[in-house]
Amino acid sequence: MAGMTDTAFRRLVKRQGGCGLVVTEMVSAEGLVRGIDRTLEYAEYTEEERPISVQIFGGDPEKMAAAAQIVEGMGADIVDVNMGCPVPKIAKHNAGCSLMREPAHAATVIAAMSKAVRIPVTVKMRAGWNEDELNAPTLARMVEDAGAAAIAVHGRTASQSYSGSADWELVARIAESLTIPVLGSGDCIDARQVIERLRSGVDGVLVGRGVLRNPWILAQAADMAAGRPPRDVTPEDRGKFLLEYIALLLEERVREPEGFRHTAVPPPARPYDSGVAGHDRWVVNKIRALGSWYTKGLDNGSHLRTAINTAGSLADLRETIEAFFLTPVSATS
Ligand SMILES: Cc1cc2nc3c(=O)[nH]c(=O)nc-3n(C[C@H](O)[C@H](O)[C@H](O)COP(=O)(O)O)c2cc1C
Repeated sequence: MAGMTDTAFRRLVKRQGGCGLVVTEMVSAEGLVRGIDRTLEYAEYTEEERPISVQIFGGDPEKMAAAAQIVEGMGADIVDVNMGCPVPKIAKHNAGCSLMREPAHAATVIAAMSKAVRIPVTVKMRAGWNEDELNAPTLARMVEDAGAAAIAVHGRTASQSYSGSADWELVARIAESLTIPVLGSGDCIDARQVIERLRSGVDGVLVGRGVLRNPWILAQAADMAAGRPPRDVTPEDRGKFLLEYIALLLEERVREPEGFRHTAVPPPARPYDSGVAGHDRWVVNKIRALGSWYTKGLDNGSHLRTAINTAGSLADLRETIEAFFLTPVSATS
C-alpha cells in the first residue's frame, strides 16, 4: 500500500505471524527503468520478508517488461501489476485502473512482461472502472490468457474509490471461472471477516487497511483457522509495535546498501543522507501516516491521533506512545 507498507512495516507485520505474502508499495516502472533513487527505495526489501511481491505501475508494454526484468534482477519472487489505482495522477498516465478501460492493451502489457521474466507476473485489479464498465471478469480471463500467474480483485470500481462495500460475489465468480489462483480484496477489517472471505470461494485474501489498524489481524485469523481463539492484543503490544517501527525506520539511516537486493542496479542515495534531522522528520511523518489508521477504534484513539500529529520531535513521539500504551493506569484513577 502506497506510503504505508514499507520494508520496516512489512517485516514487523510478518514477525507477528499468519502472513503468507507481502507486497511492496506500488513502484513506478518508468522510475525503475530510469534508475531513479527514490523509486528504487520503494522496491527495497529484506530476506526476512520472503516471499515478496514487488508491485509496479505503468502502461507501456516495453517499459513494463523492462521494469519486470529489473524487479527479477533484484531477486523478487513475484512482480505484480497495479490495475487498480484510481488516483488521477496515476490513472491519467494510462496506468493503474485506467488500464482496465483498455483490456486488449492491458493484456499486451501482461504478455510482454510474461515473456520477459521467469518469475510469476500477477495482476491486481478492481471490479471495473465504474458501474457501467464492470469488466473484471473479462479482463481477468484476458490476462490469464496473456500469461498472468494469479490475480487479485478489489471488489469495488475506481469511481467508488472506497465508498460502499466490496463485491465479494463478483470476486468469487471470477475465481470460479479461472484456472489461475484468484485472491479477493476489500473490507477485511477484523480476523473473523478474513476467515469468512477465505471460505467464499477465493484462493486467498488480501488484507489492506485492516493490517494498518491491527497488525495482528493475520495472526488472529491464523489462530481462528487452526480452531484457536484469536490472540489478545494488549496496549503494551500496540505500544511496542510503534516503538519498534520507529527503531526500524531509524535503522534505515545506517543500513548498508549490501543488505538489500540491488543486484541489478546501483544502491540508491537515501533521503536520510541529508542528515539526522531530515531523517527524523521522515520517521515522524511515517508514524503520523500510520497513526491515522492505527488509532482508529481505540479508546481515546482520536486523542492519541492528535498527540501523534502534534509531537514536535521523535523524543516527543516516543513519550506520547509510551504514555498512551505503556504507562500502567493506577488502580485509583
Ligand atoms: C493508503 C492505501 C494505499 C494503497 N495503495 C495500494 C497500492 O499501492 N497498490 C494496490 O494494489 N492497492 C493499494 N491500495 C488498495 C488496497 O490494496 C486494497 O485493495 C483496498 O484498500 C481494499 O482492501 P481493504 O479493505 O482490505 O483495505 C491501497 C489502499 C490504501 C488504503
